[in-house]
Amino acid sequence: MAGGPGSYVFGEEEKKQLNEVMEGGYLFRYGAEGVDGFCHKVADFENEFCNVLGAKHVVATSSGTGSLLCCLAALGIGAGDEVIVPGYTFIASISSIILMNAIPVLAEIDESLTIDTTKIEGLVTPRTKAIMPVHMLGNPCKMDEILRIAKKHNLYVVEDCCQAVGGSFKGKRLGTYGDISAYSLNFFKTISSGDGGAVGTNDDMLYERAFGFHDQGHKPSRMGVEVGNRSIVGMNMRMNELTGAVALAQTRKLDAVLSTLREKKELLKNLLKGMDGFKFRNINDEKECATLLTLLFDSKEKAEKFCDIIGSKPIAYSGWHVYNNMEQILNKVTASQANCPYSCEKHKNEITYKKHMLPQTDDILGRAVNISIGVVDKGLGSGYGININSSEGKIKEVGIKLRKILLSL
Ligand SMILES: Cc1ncc(COP(=O)(O)O)c(C=O)c1O
Repeated sequence: MAGGPGSYVFGEEEKKQLNEVMEGGYLFRYGAEGVDGFCHKVADFENEFCNVLGAKHVVATSSGTGSLLCCLAALGIGAGDEVIVPGYTFIASISSIILMNAIPVLAEIDESLTIDTTKIEGLVTPRTKAIMPVHMLGNPCKMDEILRIAKKHNLYVVEDCCQAVGGSFKGKRLGTYGDISAYSLNFFKTISSGDGGAVGTNDDMLYERAFGFHDQGHKPSRMGVEVGNRSIVGMNMRMNELTGAVALAQTRKLDAVLSTLREKKELLKNLLKGMDGFKFRNINDEKECATLLTLLFDSKEKAEKFCDIIGSKPIAYSGWHVYNNMEQILNKVTASQANCPYSCEKHKNEITYKKHMLPQTDDILGRAVNISIGVVDKGLGSGYGININSSEGKIKEVGIKLRKILLSL
C-alpha cells in the first residue's frame, strides 16, 4: 500500500475520536462549551500540536498548501517580492509563492537534499523578502546558518515542514526557528488525517493574520457570527471536526512514530554500511524524521542500474518533486509579471524557469535514490523498501537483497 507512516498506524484511537464527533453530530470547528454535540477536536488538535512543537500558536488548516499560503499572506508577501526556495521540493512550495503574486527564486540543494546554504546569499536582491527552507524527505535544513543569513539581509524565514512533521534541529522542533511555518497532514506524511495541515508561529501578530487568512479575515477562534472585526481578506481553509479528530489521535502518536522509524532506518542502514559505490546523503541532525533512506551513488549510471533492478527511478526522474519536471512553471514568466494590473517597474522582473538551470541539483538528484522507511510513494521515488510496520525479518530480507544488488553494480 502507498502512504505515509501515520496512515500505516491508523487504529482504534482514530476511530474513537471520529465516533465521538459523529455521535455528537456537530462537524464544524467552531462552537462553544454547552453547544449540543460540540467536541472541539480541531481546537484540541491545535493545543496539543502546539505543545508537541513547543510553539506559541498553531492554526489548523485544510492542507499543507493552504498553510503555506497563510504563512506568506501573514507576512504580507506579494507582488514583486522574491522568495528563495530550493529547486528540489514539492510544487506547492513554489506555487504558493506564485499564487501570492510573488516570485520564487530557485536555489541549489546540497548533498543533504535540502537548500545549499552556501548558495543563498548569491541570490539575494533588493526585492528578496524571505527564504523558504524545505525540510526535504524529513531532513532538517541547517537552520542556524539560514537564520544567520536571514538576519544579515533582513529577510523573513518561512519553514516548509510539510515533509518533516515532528523532526528537530539542534534540540528544537522544526518550524520553531523561522518566523512562521507550514505543516502537512496529507496521506503521505509523518502523521496524517487524509488531508489537512497546520501553521505554527511564536508571533502574536502573524498568528492573527494567518488565522484571518485561513478564515475570511476572522480573529482567532471566533465563537459564532462575527461582524465588524475583520482586518484582512482571507478565504476558507478551515479544518473540520472529522479531520481534527484524526489529526488529534495522530498527534498523540507522533513521537512513537518517529522513534519507530528511526530504529528501523538504523537497522537497514547498518546492513548497507561500508559498502562501495555509494554513500548515504548527509543528515543535518540525527533527530530527522527517518521516513526515507537516500543513497547517493558515485555515478548516474550506477544509480540507474540499481533502480532498474529494484523497479524504481533515481530521484531526478521520479516525477513530482524536481523543478525540471514542473511543466507548470517551465519556460513561463512568473505570475507576478503577468498579473500586475499596472505593468509597473517594480513588477518587471524577468525570471524564466529553465530545465537544468540548477546543475548542482541535477547532478545530485541524478545520482540519488530513495528507499522507503515509512513513506511509500512512487512519486517520491520511494516505491521500494520497508514501512513502519515491517518486522526485523523483513528489514533483514530487504537489506540482504540491497547488498547483493550493490555488490553486482
Ligand atoms: C515539501 C512540501 N510542501 C508542501 C506540500 C503540500 O502539502 P499538501 O499536500 O498537504 O497540500 C507538500 C505535500 O506533498 C510537500 O511535500
